[in-house]
Amino acid sequence: MVDRDAAALDDPVGESLRGHHRHLARRLGQVAVYLPQVATFAAVSADPDPAEWADLARLLGRGELADLFSHPAIPPADWEPVFTLDGVQMIGPADAEPVPGVVELGADDVPEMLELAARTQPGPFWPRTHELGTYLGIRENGTLVAMAGERLRPPGWTEISAVCTAPEVRGRGHATRLVRALAARIAARGERPFLHVAAANVGAIAVYERLGFRVRKRVTFRGFRTP
Ligand SMILES: CC(C)(COP(=O)(O)OP(=O)(O)OC[C@H]1O[C@@H](n2cnc3c(N)ncnc32)[C@H](O)[C@@H]1OP(=O)(O)O)[C@@H](O)C(=O)NCCC(=O)NCCS
Repeated sequence: MVDRDAAALDDPVGESLRGHHRHLARRLGQVAVYLPQVATFAAVSADPDPAEWADLARLLGRGELADLFSHPAIPPADWEPVFTLDGVQMIGPADAEPVPGVVELGADDVPEMLELAARTQPGPFWPRTHELGTYLGIRENGTLVAMAGERLRPPGWTEISAVCTAPEVRGRGHATRLVRALAARIAARGERPFLHVAAANVGAIAVYERLGFRVRKRVTFRGFRTP
């Protein structure tokens, strides 16, 4: 793969909000954020000036979370840091075999998806997050025990996210199957999968590496509170 293809991965939120997810965006001037209940991520330009930060503050409102995802820009001093988390961005294989036994999840499944995400903490998950892409699950005796889905969509790429398995059924290959099933769907439309994971989450990284994902770069996730 040439570098040019991966350039969109350096601003995955902005590339998604300007492109595939523009119907889920709120915009003001140069800045954009996802609709409430979909995601908290905000996109700013490469080197935002004070007017751009002011636009983001106006768009979000006072005292709201400005989740810059992996963007390195530093807001003005009166923006209170809320979190900083070291992570890695990984790129997945160009093709994968489809997987039986996984089901597509939709609006009716949202209460169960929220409950599973609350129990397993795979990352932010809101009532409308599933509108970002396809979410797949595995049910045991009718109960949702594992899920994974598609989140950011920079051109040519789809991010796999919300990978989680209920603690009592871990180690059975559920996450492996779900990530493989998503990777197969992504490859079938000519795109490549990528994902983000906390650098300390060595268990999840091991699962992804076994599936052929490789670290592209280290990132730092940061969130701030607007003044
Ligand atoms: C990370 C996580 C999703 C893994 O889920 P899982 O369903 O247990 O994953 P898998 O079963 O596919 O793989 C996990 C392990 O089981 C092993 N395994 C895979 N298939 C297996 C099978 N059929 N039988 C036994 N073990 C198996 C894997 O080799 C792997 O081994 P390891 O423990 O040495 O790493 C789960 O631990 C989780 O929900 N964590 C909290 C949320 C989270 O951090 N999500 C990732 C966000 S980026």
